[in-house]
Amino acid sequence: MEKVAIIGSGGFAREVLTIINEINKQSQSYEVIGFVDNDKNTSIHGFPVIGDDDEVNATTEPLSLIIAVGEPHLKEKIYKKFTNTLLNFPSLIHPSVIIGDMVSVEIGRGCIICAGSILTTDIILHDFITLNLMCTVGHDTEIEEYSSFMPSVNISGEVNVGKGVYVGTGAKIINQVDIGEGTIVGAGAVVAKSLPANCTAVGVPAKPIKFH
Ligand SMILES: CC(C)(COP(=O)(O)OP(=O)(O)OC[C@H]1O[C@@H](n2cnc3c(N)ncnc32)[C@H](O)[C@@H]1OP(=O)(O)O)[C@@H](O)C(=O)NCCC(=O)NCCS
Repeated sequence: MEKVAIIGSGGFAREVLTIINEINKQSQSYEVIGFVDNDKNTSIHGFPVIGDDDEVNATTEPLSLIIAVGEPHLKEKIYKKFTNTLLNFPSLIHPSVIIGDMVSVEIGRGCIICAGSILTTDIILHDFITLNLMCTVGHDTEIEEYSSFMPSVNISGEVNVGKGVYVGTGAKIINQVDIGEGTIVGAGAVVAKSLPANCTAVGVPAKPIKFH
């Protein structure tokens, strides 16, 4: 069994634990050694908080880490702290996820794909992508690293999503649009035209309301 620690202790970290439990029900793959957080003398659902990022980075034996954080910038910042080459970042895929074509769907390191999500064909998910519950990703779509999609986001075909994009729950992205790096899409938005980088866009159709 691969030893794994979950980075974070919030709600999403506990949801990640449920994904690991479901994977282990299918085949015993991961031994959870605990959660990584500053509040060391506590436990979460019976698992200890084993220390902070610095303590984990000092590991002397191989350890897998799951960065259970949805906010893209924070994900990147946390990942970049871990310089120890004994650390691995596997991708977690809930057993209920449907991947239409295992050959043409590429999934990088550190991705988390939650229950009920569906990916069809000719898709590239770069490293550290989060697809929360029941997201769909259509054909010929490419998503750059650290981007996060909250529950029930639908991404149509031939969509390009830049690095560090955050898409709120229930948003829909129509086919053949691009979303620029660092952009935030509000919950329930319909992205009907390409969005520039580093803006917050909301509504139907989604329009930028601010740049950051
Ligand atoms: C888009 C979002 C990021 C904006 O957050 P923010 O930058 O803090 O912006 P504010 O809350 O100040 O809102 C700015 C304006 O946009 C409006 N707005 C915010 N979110 C909106 C949305 N999803 N759809 C339509 N309008 C929205 C606000 O009502 C406000 O309008 P006003 O200026 O007329 O009062 C946020 O509202 C959102 O939708 N987040 C997604 C959350 C989510 O999906 N969580 C899932 C957790 S699992």
